[in-house]
Amino acid sequence: MSAESVTLMKQAVAQAAAQEVKSGMVVGLGTGSTTAFVIQFLGERLKSGELSNIVGIPTSFQASVLAKLYGIPLVTLDDVERIDIAIDGADEVDPDKVLIKGGGAAHTREKIVDGLAEEFLVVVDSSKLVTELGSTFPVPVEVLPLALSPVTRALTNLGGEPVLRMGVKKDGPVITDQGNMVIDVKFATIHDPAELEKTINNIPGVVENGLFVGLATRIFVGELVNDQPVVR
Ligand code: 5RP
Repeated sequence: MSAESVTLMKQAVAQAAAQEVKSGMVVGLGTGSTTAFVIQFLGERLKSGELSNIVGIPTSFQASVLAKLYGIPLVTLDDVERIDIAIDGADEVDPDKVLIKGGGAAHTREKIVDGLAEEFLVVVDSSKLVTELGSTFPVPVEVLPLALSPVTRALTNLGGEPVLRMGVKKDGPVITDQGNMVIDVKFATIHDPAELEKTINNIPGVVENGLFVGLATRIFVGELVNDQPVVR
């Protein structure tokens, strides 16, 4: 599939999900290329007057920069008692709506914000749908730098294949918004994602992992039908 087709699908799901936001809502703003379009569409709806009085809670520095660019007022978790809706992408979605997230190294803040939302809408193109979790994407684990070696060993002992995530130029590790590193862990199979999520988070030095179990309420999937983007 061409890059243009993928972009068209991302825009279509982003537009459909952005329409679910109503005036006055507190909105969790996800991270990634698909949610970048969500933030853009929300900004456009605000600008046109179709939407008013929303505030956003960003899940990353990237999301906060985009929100400012598109004129979405931002607040923090200290300022609000509820989040009405969160819209975020995913790297994998299984038939039980369990997700793997963290391709953008933002899963720690994403899990906090998405998990607090009354409604958590996931926006993906059809390539992210899997029958077996972990089959196309490893589980990202955010780790405190000082605990990199013991956490890597513990992840190997769990049966995973841990790889420290490097930056695009491969000249240093990816550093998260919290100043930590990310280990991507490939598991041959993930039988019980809820159990694995807890087990990984129980390793001292782990901040958060990218398994999202029982959090997503709706999945918006973009696909191409006769070369046209369709959302289901
Ligand atoms: C960031 C994420 C993203 O939501 C995920 O990687 C999907 O990104 P994209 O929409 O660019 O495919 O989890 O940590």
